[in-house]
Amino acid sequence: MFALASYERQDGGYQMKLWAGRFQKEIDQKTNDFNSSISFDSRMYREDIEGSIAHATMLGECGIIEKEESRQICAELEKILEEITAGTLEIDRNAEDIHTFVEGELTKRLGAAGKRLHTARSRNDQVALDLRCTLRKECTSMEKQLRELVRTLCVKALEHKGDVMPGYTHLQRAQPITFGHHLMAYAEMFLRDLGRLSDARKRMDVMPLGSCALAGTTYPLDRELTAKLLGFHAVSQNSLDGVADRDFCVEIASALSLAMVHLSRFSEEIVLWCSWEFKFIELDDAFSTGSSIMPQKKNPDIAELVRGKSGRVFGDLMALLTMMKGLPLAYNKDMQEDKEAIFDAVDTLRMCLTAFIPMVDTMKVLPENMRVAAAKGFINATDCADYLVGKGIPFRDAYKITGTLVAMCIESGKTLETLPIEEYQELCPEFDMDIYEAISLENCVQRRTVTGSPAPQNVQAQAERVLELVKEQEEQA
Ligand code: ARG
Repeated sequence: MFALASYERQDGGYQMKLWAGRFQKEIDQKTNDFNSSISFDSRMYREDIEGSIAHATMLGECGIIEKEESRQICAELEKILEEITAGTLEIDRNAEDIHTFVEGELTKRLGAAGKRLHTARSRNDQVALDLRCTLRKECTSMEKQLRELVRTLCVKALEHKGDVMPGYTHLQRAQPITFGHHLMAYAEMFLRDLGRLSDARKRMDVMPLGSCALAGTTYPLDRELTAKLLGFHAVSQNSLDGVADRDFCVEIASALSLAMVHLSRFSEEIVLWCSWEFKFIELDDAFSTGSSIMPQKKNPDIAELVRGKSGRVFGDLMALLTMMKGLPLAYNKDMQEDKEAIFDAVDTLRMCLTAFIPMVDTMKVLPENMRVAAAKGFINATDCADYLVGKGIPFRDAYKITGTLVAMCIESGKTLETLPIEEYQELCPEFDMDIYEAISLENCVQRRTVTGSPAPQNVQAQAERVLELVKEQEEQA
């Protein structure tokens, strides 16, 4: 005795499986839980329903189903969408996935018409579509946040374009820069992240419906119409690739990983800067935490967490790459693992930016302390050597003379600024009183005017240009 497939709910709350015609037993409960993706793909309910509405409209337009039935299906899907959004229709956690749930709910309400929705479609092309639609929205919203971060950095950089701080290599004081210049380095990184995300979004702009299970279909579909209805600019050109491609997940996870690298490096510097050893900044109370035992403590937990969370996103990227690398064409159930990984990456970046942007915006910058740090460590030694080069001494000799001067200063507890002119001249008669002007930190920074260098007017021009660029991007978004 074979029972006909039915969407009636069994008393356990289970929906009968879509393949109930072929099978004579229901799936084991625990195996159902293992197999199910509803707990993480239900967040795509809107995209799933909108995709179904476009598909049903196209089926009606092409005469594959009756126009009236198509209208009925679309109207009911709209209702289902409204009800889920309003919270009056609960998504059944026992359904295998969001696609099964929506189709089951539609069929429960419409009977035969509902059963026609899946004509010329498979969950394989359906999930490929849903994921693309979900991720393009996520990309758009992450791009918006990144633009906000870049804007915040530009505004801060303009405020501090003339505040001298030590620039570092090997975390050793190296040469004078300004705080504004330092911040704009991060603005450049986040601008590249923006570029990578929008590139990935553009490459993802391909509509896979019509690939069906793997081999396309014999129905005379108008795939271009479906694409147009859903706002895609192209349709996929190979049905196997249409259902088997997850490059877009990998690309996005990779772009997000790099964005997390940048956030993590920035966080590391923030942690350093608010230590007593540096004290270049102080974080606002609203974005710091205290200690349960040490009353004096103010900890940069947010920056540390952002730094810590970067690992999750790299893990998500690695999970996606590993999941895909051995899969034969076309769809394999392994690919269900794509969603948790990419959603985790997206959610992590979003959460990090949500806390990070206001933390940077509200942090108190302490330029006096930066100036004090800049005054120690002989960060104007290169400028001292360059001074001698200006007096006709070859750079290698000038370098050696300056090295000796630094050693003398260390010995006598002086700095290049406080070393008397006689001692300079003893070592090299080319030195004159103008050496003090040449090595003043403000002048050292001021003179670095080559494109990309930290002179305050450069920082100002760069920040203004970036602000303009971000504004243009915003207008086009
Ligand atoms: N839940 C599935 C996924 O996320 C949907 C596609 C299922 N297709 C199939 N042939 N089992 O990948």
